[in-house]
Order: sequence, then C-alpha cells, then structure tokens
Amino acid sequence: MSCELHKINYVNQILQNETYRGYLKQNEEKERERIFCHHDLAHFLDVARIGMIINLEEGYGLPQEFVYAAALLHDIGRWKQYEDGEDHAAVSARLCGPILTACQVPEDEADLIRGAIASHRDAAVRDEKSLRGLLYRADKLSRPCFGCRAEGACNWKADKKNRELIR
Ligand SMILES: [Fe+2]
Ligand SMILES: [Fe+2]
Repeated sequence: MSCELHKINYVNQILQNETYRGYLKQNEEKERERIFCHHDLAHFLDVARIGMIINLEEGYGLPQEFVYAAALLHDIGRWKQYEDGEDHAAVSARLCGPILTACQVPEDEADLIRGAIASHRDAAVRDEKSLRGLLYRADKLSRPCFGCRAEGACNWKADKKNRELIR
C-alpha cells in the first residue's frame, strides 16, 4: 500500500469512528428545530471540498487528508456550545484528539489538525497560507447566506455573510 493511500484511509476511518458518529448525532439532536446553519456532515463535506478548491487554486500544497480530516472534525463539539455556552472551536479541538489517535493519525499531523480546529473562528488566521487559514476561509465560504430564509435573523456580522456566490 502506498503512503498516500494509507493517509487517505485515516479520513475514511474518521467517518466510521463510533465516537465521531456519536458527536454528529448529538449535533443533529440539538439542531432539530434550528432555523440557522446546521453543523452536520453536509456542512463538513462542503468545507472539505471548498478547502480543496482553495488548496489547489491558490497553491497551498496541503495534503488532501489534512483538509478532509480538519473539515470533518471542526464542528464536532457544537452540541456542547448549545448545552453550556463553551466555544465549540475549543470543544471540537479537545474532542477530536482521541478520534485522531484511534484513527492512527500521526502525532505531528494530528497537532496541525487540532490547531486548525481550535482557531477556525479566529479571523486573525484568515490570511495565513496554512491549514488554519484554509479551514477558516472554507468554513465561512460554505454558508449559503444568499439563499437562506433565516438570513435576516442571523447574528453573523454583515461582512461575514455570503450574499453572492462568486465574488
Ligand atoms: Fe464552527
Ligand atoms: Fe463550520
């Protein structure tokens, strides 16, 4: 098996991981009545694919598995923010550790993924040409404010909202 194939397999392992699936279920339960954006697998895949487009178009040179793993895990702790208000970037960065270990992600790669998740709401990383900057941008670009019926009631700042599909 080539090295590249091995790395891509850890992304598939994350998708099958029981703990991971449990967090997705908790997000789903908390967001059943939510009119604003959800934090579900569809959002994670949007972020992964937009992230890969940026990665390729702008020559970030990041391995595919970094982009996918960070996107799949970046909001897994959103359910806890609904419960007690703890920032979900911090929760998700904490909760993803055991999943990365269980999926045999090498420690140096896991550190980069955790760091990108921890800062995915921090505008200060936006322009970094790194996994951190890429995750921040892909996450924000993934939200279809231009077609959202709840946009008027959403508390996202005006300059963050995507009112056009392509700028
Ligand atoms: Fe988030
Ligand atoms: Fe997100």
